[in-house]
Amino acid sequence: MGSGLAIAGFAVSGLAADAPAARGAKVYGQYCAACHGQNMTKPQSFAIDLRKFPADQHDRFIRSVLNGKGAMPAWKGAVTPAQAEELWAYVSAAAKPATAKK
Ligand code: HEC
Repeated sequence: MGSGLAIAGFAVSGLAADAPAARGAKVYGQYCAACHGQNMTKPQSFAIDLRKFPADQHDRFIRSVLNGKGAMPAWKGAVTPAQAEELWAYVSAAAKPATAKK
């Protein structure tokens, strides 16, 4: 007997499912969207708009995500260093170009 379950897909639309930014988008949806907004839009008033995070500050991003920053909890333990890099691939694609003023 055939099963309809076979058609359940897991691809992220518009991106190859195994691309770092696509994996980052999934982690983002799981851990970050509640405060920073679905797809980085409409963040909560107390959180920052990640699309405005400077695109040339990779190290700061990784450090803040893993160790926490101000009102944001540390994600170390929930998010692996490899996933933090995937999150960076996702966020930096939407972030301001490195040449833009802060
Ligand atoms: C509970 C709400 C909450 C969640 C969930 C959350 N954040 Fe944040 N985030 C904040 C707040 C609040 C700030 C502002 C912190 C400050 O500067 O005081 C912040 C700031 C940041 C910053 C800027 C740090 C800096 O160096 O200025 C980054 C990057 C960031 N968040 C990424 C993430 C990522 C990636 C996730 C998912 C793993 C995430 N956040 C999940 C609340 C949250």
